[in-house]
Amino acid sequence: MNPTLVQRAQQVLRANDRSGYTIPTAGLYPFQWNWDASVCALGWMQFDEPRAWLEIQTLFSGLWTEGDYGGGSAGLLAHITFHQPADSYFPGPDEWGTQALALRTSSISQPPLHATMVRWMLERAQDRAAAEAAVRGLLPGLLAHHRWWYRTRDPEGSGLVRILHPWETGMDNSPAWDAPLARVPATPRAYRRRDLDHVDASMRPPQSFYDRVVYLMDANRDAGFDPQRMLEAGRFQVNDIGIVCILQRASRDLAVLAARFGDEAAASEMRLHVDRTQQAVAALWSDRWQQPVSRDALTGELLDQPTSAGLLSAYAGFGFDIAPAVQAGLDETAYGVASTRRTAPTYDAPRYWRGPVWQHINLLISQGLAEQGQAALAARIRDSSVRLFERSGFHEYYHPETGSGLGGRDFSWTAATYLHWIAGQPA
Ligand code: GLC
Repeated sequence: MNPTLVQRAQQVLRANDRSGYTIPTAGLYPFQWNWDASVCALGWMQFDEPRAWLEIQTLFSGLWTEGDYGGGSAGLLAHITFHQPADSYFPGPDEWGTQALALRTSSISQPPLHATMVRWMLERAQDRAAAEAAVRGLLPGLLAHHRWWYRTRDPEGSGLVRILHPWETGMDNSPAWDAPLARVPATPRAYRRRDLDHVDASMRPPQSFYDRVVYLMDANRDAGFDPQRMLEAGRFQVNDIGIVCILQRASRDLAVLAARFGDEAAASEMRLHVDRTQQAVAALWSDRWQQPVSRDALTGELLDQPTSAGLLSAYAGFGFDIAPAVQAGLDETAYGVASTRRTAPTYDAPRYWRGPVWQHINLLISQGLAEQGQAALAARIRDSSVRLFERSGFHEYYHPETGSGLGGRDFSWTAATYLHWIAGQPA
């Protein structure tokens, strides 16, 4: 553990604190983001437990309820919650058509890793009584959110939920979305991106991508946020292996939490979903890349791209042997698991989710491998991350070959990942 880095990581979280929630980074991302929040909470947990619980409570204050838009989307936990206005980001609070909400949010979700993070926080809490009270208070929202995923995104009970917008995956411009996104029309309306005010264009998605994500954003509003209509009209529908893995892990953890706090019925409900997904996931295996991948839910075609999303399958507990794929990926780079394999034709070293290393993903992959009995491989990932943190500090993402920091600076979930994974668990 490196005391200077610990101090700097804590400073990053403090500087990005907006009383009750943590922005990912100033300027580029000025609101509360969904999966960032729970990763941030892991970091806060290392030095301010009440603040850590507050992060997740604040996030869940934006959960959609029966009173919102006809109630069909009750349990939606949006990818952005707009607690306070800011004009440095597009699409901001006025763009989503959600003006009727008491607390304005976007209309799409993001990887539901919260129940897992909550369980990890509970296990590490020093103040047991406060932690138990916090978890008890969070359970109804967590359950509502998991039910939203299964009810609205897998109404037929296939075991594989679908996403309707690339931003829902949290891996916005992954090459896995290229083919399904090519069928989405470009928006005819004018808008102005703000990301290029903050970060060089070589590290961000191209205009053609933005034209399509804006189209998909507007389509949700046009469907009145009714889940059934959204599925009927959805031009982009993908069984994202990343979400499938993260939801699977979180539902297993949620079952444990529910049972521990006396809700056996909810625990078995979650276990039923977990069993169903375990049966269904075999269909996503890629022989070419020796890992599971995503699938186009409209055409049934595998989106056969070697992205880090499929390497979360150990963390999910699916039982695939992904060690050879992880090993091969690590041999191709210098600093950990890249978001897209270097040997893939779609690899683009500095561009967001098409190459760069993201530290929280490396944490989850490493954790999963350790649990699967692959201790040496898990340690190899952690060691590369230690080198990367010490070399480059807390950036949004990193160049997998040179280790240089890319994207936003002083980035909250990166700092939080350091505090939880490296400072909080001495080697
Ligand atoms: C980008 C990332 C997404 C993240 C958000 C805030 O959109 O792709 O995963 O949640 O930034 O950090």
